[in-house]
Amino acid sequence: MQQSHSKALSNPIFSIITESANELSIDCYVIGGFVRDYFLKRGTPKDIDVVAIGSGIELAQKVASRLDGKPQVSIFKNFGTAMIKYGDIELEFVGARKESYNRDSRKPLVEDGTLQDDQKRRDFTINALALSLQEDDFGRLLDPFDGIADLNKKILRTPLEPATTYSDDPLRMMRAIRFATQLDFTIQLKSLQAIIENKDRIKIISRERIVDELHKIMASRTPSKGFALLNKTGLLEIILPELTALKGIEEIEGQKHKDNFWHTLEVVDNISENTDNIWLRWAALLHDIGKAPTKKFHKKIGWTFHGHEFVGSKMVYKLFKRLRMPLNDKMKYVQKLVLMSSRPQILSEDFVTDSAVRRLIFDAGEHVDDLMTLCEADITTKNPKKQKKYKNNFKLVRLKIEEVEERDHVRNFQPPVSGEEIMQTFDLKPSREIGIIKDAIKEAILEGEIPNEYNAAKEFMLKKGKEIGLHTTTK
Ligand code: CTP
Repeated sequence: MQQSHSKALSNPIFSIITESANELSIDCYVIGGFVRDYFLKRGTPKDIDVVAIGSGIELAQKVASRLDGKPQVSIFKNFGTAMIKYGDIELEFVGARKESYNRDSRKPLVEDGTLQDDQKRRDFTINALALSLQEDDFGRLLDPFDGIADLNKKILRTPLEPATTYSDDPLRMMRAIRFATQLDFTIQLKSLQAIIENKDRIKIISRERIVDELHKIMASRTPSKGFALLNKTGLLEIILPELTALKGIEEIEGQKHKDNFWHTLEVVDNISENTDNIWLRWAALLHDIGKAPTKKFHKKIGWTFHGHEFVGSKMVYKLFKRLRMPLNDKMKYVQKLVLMSSRPQILSEDFVTDSAVRRLIFDAGEHVDDLMTLCEADITTKNPKKQKKYKNNFKLVRLKIEEVEERDHVRNFQPPVSGEEIMQTFDLKPSREIGIIKDAIKEAILEGEIPNEYNAAKEFMLKKGKEIGLHTTTK
């Protein structure tokens, strides 16, 4: 007698699905990520995929009519699927099908099929596991492709010939790499080979879906695993050529520079130990992309990458635009961190003046901590002495930042004297002079000539006004 996994199906929602399927006299199964994650003990997933040997849409409607509050059923007729949101659970219903694909698009031509047909057309054996929802064998596992063995061996394998599975839906190439990264699995060699051979088919996939997978790789514990696989398969060259351009070490007259691609991956892993902020991780991934176009060799000083931070921050915009990523404050945040990525390092090497620290805090604003986190992650030297020294230097910069910020409050700088007051004091209409005075006050504060306080700023304003030939209206 086969073991039952009814424990996985303890949520009462599954009994409701069983009763609904009984009423329609059809069989149905839970399949995909829910089952995989149950066996991986990854918690209880909120996405539940149900496959019906019959109409998934009818089953969804029946289930919804039995649920409290009669939730709405969203129907995607073209795909033969239906979705119900019920509290924090998302139920997706689909009729079992055989699928064949048109070579130039992801849109499948759908035909009804058996459970096995449906399992065969799925991406990986570990995602083809199904649990029965029939009353008489509730919780029985159906695993025709040895998915459980692959789970135990931590292997990603396709149910069909890998070339067929990937060519049918090229997004699966990204999914293979994403799952390998998320779950720390190995992609079966034959499968990896098929990805390499089919890599160009990724071009028919929408950029939004590719980015979704990139985000998931980026959110993993060790994102470098995914980027190294993307590199190995040739997908990275197609998706993020800015990164592959960083590959390689050049040597002229005995002078070498580091391989900035592998350095970047180390930085991403380092930062991932200290932050879950996905955009900060993106900043780490992109912090050196300006190095490829700015690389030069000088006989006397060796390799330089002058202005790579500025060039890199411009490239961030183009990259986001190309990948249809949001061109919003997240993009600006990444740009800003890339642009400022060398600033703390310069500070840590020089004698640190208060004014330099004030300027850093002023320019980085609320992101100064994130910038420091990025710079600390950027230390990848294998020389323990140097590593200790660099880390210590940044510690000192952090201390200095705290000390200066506590005193001068320039992090969220608000001009201590308003434009309004400047206008009133000198009887001015909106004009250039107001900007000149405001700027001069800000500069004086950052340079440490005056403290960041109202009285000092007011006095400075009067002096500056006089200097540029303005007269006060009041005594
Ligand atoms: N699937 C597939 N090919 C795809 C996408 C999905 O075969 N390109 C199948 C797999 O069986 C997968 C199921 O559809 O398990 C559900 O897909 P999805 O919800 O996207 O992924 P999950 O496997 O549930 O994993 P995650 O939630 O981590 O994305």
